[in-house]
Amino acid sequence: MAIEKIGVIGAGLMGSGIAEVCARSGYSVLVLEVNQLLLDKGLNAIRTSLTRGAERGKITEADKTATLGRLRGTTNLADFNDRDLVIEAIVEDMAKKKDVFKQLDKICPKSAILATNTSCLAVIEMAMCTQRPDRVLGIHFFNPAPVMKLVELVKTIAVSPETVAEAKAFGESLGKKAIFAPDSPGFVVNRLLVPYMIDAIRIFEAGTATAEDIDQGMVLGCNHPMGPLALTDLVGLDTAMLVANAMYEEFKEPRFAAPPLLKKMVAAGRLGRKTGRGFYQYS
Ligand code: CAA
Ligand code: NAD
Repeated sequence: MAIEKIGVIGAGLMGSGIAEVCARSGYSVLVLEVNQLLLDKGLNAIRTSLTRGAERGKITEADKTATLGRLRGTTNLADFNDRDLVIEAIVEDMAKKKDVFKQLDKICPKSAILATNTSCLAVIEMAMCTQRPDRVLGIHFFNPAPVMKLVELVKTIAVSPETVAEAKAFGESLGKKAIFAPDSPGFVVNRLLVPYMIDAIRIFEAGTATAEDIDQGMVLGCNHPMGPLALTDLVGLDTAMLVANAMYEEFKEPRFAAPPLLKKMVAAGRLGRKTGRGFYQYS
């Protein structure tokens, strides 16, 4: 099946990035948010990113205009009735995701692929809310989606080989490398990355080192592009906590448990870059 029309559910950090990279790659993209205010915020983030790209000479003004021409927003899920592929990128909450999949199954063409960008939740549970579990899989993008070169394709026990092949071709059409991952919490990358991020929070909480020294240690000592605390600020502390909780719930291993400081910072609204304050302050 030729994929031409993409739907993206959620225009937060990931949804806006996914919508941007799809529109830049020539797809017609429809993005959904819960209200007009959040939709405008997400669409503005895409405009800003494209303007930045044009200013830095990465794309031409004509590319920017054409990309924006391929992008539309809506607050009505019924508008997804002509989409070939829908990528869900709402908050990391299984009940909310299941509800979206139930509705999408009724609205979207029978042939459409329904994908989730979940960081760690069981894709099969979302698939079984639909009448087409063979057309449901995880397409896991990395933050920032327009920049990071990987997608993890999460294969459930019910997905068809055709769906996986179409998703792989789609990922590659965005200029990404696709790797395969099991439908097991954290897949491949977060299974390794999340314990690392929360270990850094534990070290900071214990007073072993300052945030700056922890981050500089990993940037200068290991050539990581950013340290683990700055990375947690980029991901969002709320998302990091939800992912850690879900992984702990499944594996019951202490290394996946959210540290007390992470819970306190989330309770205080210090969610990282998205709220202007996390381990660091952002203007
Ligand atoms: N949207 C689009 N482009 C962006 C962007 C964004 N949000 N942020 C940065 N860029 C682009 C810039 O335009 C720039 O492009 P050019 O070099 O071509 O001009 C390039 O990325 C580098 O940006 P900057 O110079 O501003 O900053 P930087 O060199 O410090 O790079 C970074 C920023 C790409 C975020 C880099 O620090 C990095 O790779 N960090 C690690 C990110 C990472 O590990 N992500 C995975 C998170 S975990 C996850 O996603 C999974 C999960 O489920 C939680
Ligand atoms: P976010 O909080 O920035 O954005 C989520 C957006 O979804 C919000 O704007 C919210 O209004 C919207 N939303 C909630 N319910 C909705 C619904 N029913 N319909 C439409 N929109 C709805 O979160 P995020 O960081 O973009 O994460 C989204 C998903 O991507 C999560 O599953 C997360 O685990 C995953 N993910 C996150 C990262 C990351 O680094 N933040 C990386 C990869 C994957």
